[in-house]
Amino acid sequence: MCGIVGFVGKDNAVHKLIHGLKTLEYRGYDSAGVALLQDNDITVVKDKGRIANLENILNYEELTGTIGIAHTRWATHGIPSKDNAHPHMDPHHHFAVVHNGILENYLELKDFLLSKGYSFVSETDSEVIPILMEYYYEQEKDVLKAFKKTLKDLRGSYAILVISPLLPNTILVAKKNSPLVIGKGKDGIYAASDIPAIISYTKDFYFLEDGESAVIDDEIHFYDSEFKEIHKDSKTIHWDMSAIDKNGFPDYMLKEIHEQPDALKNSLNGLDHPVGFLNFSLDKKYLESIREIYIVACGTAMHAGLVGRYAIEQICRIPTRVEVASEFRYQNPIVDEHTLCIFISQSGETADTIAALKLAKKLGAKTLTITNVFESSITREADYTIYTHAGPEIAVASTKAYISQVGMMVALAIYIAELLGKNQSEVAQIKKELLELPSLMKQVIDKNQEYLKIAKKMVSVQDLFYIGRGNDYHVAMEGSLKLKEISYIHSEAYQAGELKHGPIALIEDGTFVFGIITDPKLSEKTLSNLEEVKSRGANVVLVTNEDIKEDIVIPIPKTNTLLSPILAIIPLQFVAYFIAKEKGLDVDKPRNLAKSVTVE
Ligand code: G6P
Repeated sequence: MCGIVGFVGKDNAVHKLIHGLKTLEYRGYDSAGVALLQDNDITVVKDKGRIANLENILNYEELTGTIGIAHTRWATHGIPSKDNAHPHMDPHHHFAVVHNGILENYLELKDFLLSKGYSFVSETDSEVIPILMEYYYEQEKDVLKAFKKTLKDLRGSYAILVISPLLPNTILVAKKNSPLVIGKGKDGIYAASDIPAIISYTKDFYFLEDGESAVIDDEIHFYDSEFKEIHKDSKTIHWDMSAIDKNGFPDYMLKEIHEQPDALKNSLNGLDHPVGFLNFSLDKKYLESIREIYIVACGTAMHAGLVGRYAIEQICRIPTRVEVASEFRYQNPIVDEHTLCIFISQSGETADTIAALKLAKKLGAKTLTITNVFESSITREADYTIYTHAGPEIAVASTKAYISQVGMMVALAIYIAELLGKNQSEVAQIKKELLELPSLMKQVIDKNQEYLKIAKKMVSVQDLFYIGRGNDYHVAMEGSLKLKEISYIHSEAYQAGELKHGPIALIEDGTFVFGIITDPKLSEKTLSNLEEVKSRGANVVLVTNEDIKEDIVIPIPKTNTLLSPILAIIPLQFVAYFIAKEKGLDVDKPRNLAKSVTVE
């Protein structure tokens, strides 16, 4: 889940590389480095810490090279440190390498190289790559042959960029199970793990498939997994990069919370025209043949899946289950051609979700992905893609992408129900209410100063609880995750009725418990559970669309129960945000996390 970027051209490379790294920082931010080819040698500058720290130690006047590679790291093998930071080199400084992914056989390769007399300076898996290249180079005296032999030896996932004074004016590129794009600009050729890193320099992109590699000099030469030269067409991508400005907000997260009504509106654009809205059509006969739907995702996307399941089961009456992507493959899932598998991923790059999709496809299921990132890896694997159109989401903690994912899941449920002719009047009503949501969301957002007052009461608590039933429980889960991610306060989400089977033992005088009540059928029951915690000393904060008396109430507008998560989550996002800000934390880049998780 590290970010990588490279440049070959006539201009000074270091500024472009640092610019690229900054846009990739959401992929990881515990150490960073650059390597440049200059004076027939490789110059490496790297350190622990964020890119701002790297910038402070760069001597721009001395870094004149026009070919270079760079990396921002999210540690997997080895602590964040200068030695473990990329780029890595072989002892003769013939090769500098940046790598995103995990080499599963690195210990085997390392032992082999140690037995050949090579030494290592880092604890990383990635360092075997330059050293293996050097080993093969000494035998072959040919850089390209050494590169090919090295790639053949690697097992696991990788996106790799290599520079070498033995092959001046060139970057070697390879990809397997980690994202990589190449862009042709006016001033040179770029390679990066994500489009945003290089979109300000080019709109023309080439996408490598797994097992492919490329040699970039004045031109780009592409090779298949057998190293046969292949032709690739470029794709033109138009992105509105103004969307990645903070627009006067202190953080991306706050900006993205405010953007949620527009994100949902954009997602639902065309809902009245199913085929236009989905950009593909599912066959009625096929839908009738489905016995079960699986929704597979990680983190916040999985929480959106839970709300989606609720909608599909309620209005389409098709049995639906939600699985965490990292577990899906190990459950011997009962999936075949009568299963529709839906994979939700904001980034479209989450390794576990993509691996689960590949398995579902192998088992014969049709696969549909809901993602926010155009041309992301998952879109190239899935049979069908629905884009959420939430716009770029930069803050690590997902907000507007979640809202859009939920909106799309409900819209998909509506689409399936319409096609199957199920619950027509109810479906028409839900559709109407779904389209009304953006203006109701604005009303919830406008009350954010009320949420600040509530957050201030919780800044120094150790634990927080979130409870609800039905769809309200799904909101509890997402609210609790937001809090953990950015405020580092321990929290638990529980089905309100399940609390008394254990976790209630943790409730003591002054413990804050968020209750979420938006389903009139369930309100009395959840209220009883809130009474149970109150009588054990808890302070209750109630998020509700009903007229209920409680010490602290966050009122939200009424809507259909299938849609209420879209309104109920907003105050909880704000509370998490305000607590984190009050604690002086970096809300956009919380510790230990990364936005795009490309390792399993
Ligand atoms: C990471 C992010 C989460 C996100 C999850 C799934 O853990 O920090 O915010 O929900 O990955 O990401 P995806 O891109 O697949 O939605």
